[in-house]
Amino acid sequence: MLSKTVESALNKQIRIEAESSQVYLAMAVWAEVKGLEGISNFMYDQSDEEREHMLKLIKFVNERGGHAHISELNAPDVSFNSFQEMFEKLLEHEIFVSQSINELVHITFEEKDYATNNFLQWYVSEQIEEEATARTILDKINMIGDDKGGLYLFDRDIQQINVQTAVNTPAGE
Ligand code: FEO
Repeated sequence: MLSKTVESALNKQIRIEAESSQVYLAMAVWAEVKGLEGISNFMYDQSDEEREHMLKLIKFVNERGGHAHISELNAPDVSFNSFQEMFEKLLEHEIFVSQSINELVHITFEEKDYATNNFLQWYVSEQIEEEATARTILDKINMIGDDKGGLYLFDRDIQQINVQTAVNTPAGE
């Protein structure tokens, strides 16, 4: 059974994951309109992953005797000055999500809720991976800068990053 404190903290995270899905959906659309299909597909996949993160939390809250809250969402940024800026925002956003997960883990310790603490360990690992991926991409984008040819090649490369992530993360996790 969840305490009200843990339930409300989990519900806050449900909203953050839902908003993350929207953040990446807006990035996917922006990249697609700009004609960069690889980057766009990467962002669509990220958006789907965030929805999975949200659903996993929803199921957990309901299974533990709570009531998952489906709330209104803040609107994401829908346009960017450059791909560099977009990927900087991606990394910033993942760092923000990691902080939020850390706070959530902290609350479960305070509330002595070790079941939820154990459940959240998956999110802790996931955040390490997501931040690492975002950093790798940003490093590459920073090297390319405004070079159109470089961006074109990167648009093909990013498909590989997708594949590698998929291989390292078995379906359903
Ligand atoms: Fe679900 Fe990328 O945080």
